[in-house]
Amino acid sequence: MEVRLWRHGNVASFSEASGWGWHEDAALVTEGERLLWLGADRALPAPLAARAVDEIDLGGACVTPGLIDCHTHLVYAGDRAREFELRLQGASYEEIARAGGGIRSTVAATRAADESTLLQGALGRARTLMAEGVTTLEIKSGYGLSERDEARCLAVARRVAEVLPITVRTTFLGAHALPPEFEGRADAYVDAVCAWMPRLAGLGLVDAVDAFCEGIGFSPAQTRRVFEAARALGLPVKLHAEQLSDQHGAVLAAEFGALSCDHLEYLGDDGVAAMARAGSVAVLLPGAFYFLRESKLPPVAALRAAGVPLALATDHNPGSSPTLSPLLMMNMACTLFRLTPEEAWRGFTVNAARALGLSAQGHGCLAAGARADFAAWDAGHPRELVYGFGQRPLLQLIRGGRRVDVTH
Ligand code: NIG
Ligand code: FE
Repeated sequence: MEVRLWRHGNVASFSEASGWGWHEDAALVTEGERLLWLGADRALPAPLAARAVDEIDLGGACVTPGLIDCHTHLVYAGDRAREFELRLQGASYEEIARAGGGIRSTVAATRAADESTLLQGALGRARTLMAEGVTTLEIKSGYGLSERDEARCLAVARRVAEVLPITVRTTFLGAHALPPEFEGRADAYVDAVCAWMPRLAGLGLVDAVDAFCEGIGFSPAQTRRVFEAARALGLPVKLHAEQLSDQHGAVLAAEFGALSCDHLEYLGDDGVAAMARAGSVAVLLPGAFYFLRESKLPPVAALRAAGVPLALATDHNPGSSPTLSPLLMMNMACTLFRLTPEEAWRGFTVNAARALGLSAQGHGCLAAGARADFAAWDAGHPRELVYGFGQRPLLQLIRGGRRVDVTH
């Protein structure tokens, strides 16, 4: 395997339980897809340097782990700009959903789109994320809502990782909304979702299972049935929990050892305690909070006090968070949710890896043995990248020890 030497970067490794893991004027040695060595440039062992086939001068750039966007709905067709206008005129997200718009309108557009259209859309979005340092991405289904269309969307998600140099984890979100053909028959739809699951998993399309537990989504009892089906297949679960109201979904998810509970604006003390006990990650989504003009803040102080790891994600989707900027999400997590810049970075690296069950595979931090996924930035320190917004500071993206093209 080829050994490469990357010299003169200022590295935030996030390899310890707290702090930036800061290494000034550092060198990184990669072997194949892994990091072999990281430390002060002047301490670089000569025998290691001698094995390198290539030496790259990072020129004093700031280096971080590649970003991990652990919650996206990247595969869909159409847009919801008209719905945005209606919401600005006073209609609420729930009213639009109950009137048959919202998620259902994206389902109609997604069902009508051919696979190549869906793939081109998803690839364009993934490239935009890569241009901001993303090397690992979670993609949920949930705009197909029939066995065939969910399979199509999950297959497109898998295809993204074949076409682009990016790691993709797929999540089956059949229980996202009730499709029109099941109107008034939510329990029958949940039966269908549970019946599709082993077949989709058998096709290798499912890494995790998610549901939307909400007044306009599925009840806790229905969510439980989805989770039981996942557990029977040995699949980990995640949950869209307490986004618009407190359904105590996080307590339920924790009972199933959920990897993460996401959104969480209305999370109560019972949910915080249950997540802490289960070791579930809290994935905060400032894009959806902002775009839906929410005012109820997630209980960040309580989550922090309970030791629940905090992650962040774009939640990219056409209805509640049409953003493709992880750096903007970090900035908004600090300004809106009062995270520290260090917490924001951990949220898109080490804790995001945990929310996807990828920590053991060396994603999300930089240390010997970890994946050689890293980004070089035009900044003196990562906190500058959280402070600025709407800028394009990425200099280079390295995934699996190789430079990847981030023009899009
Ligand atoms: O994460 N909350 C449910 N699902 C998405 C929104 C989906 C949509 O509006 O199309 C979310 O916010
Ligand atoms: Fe979401």
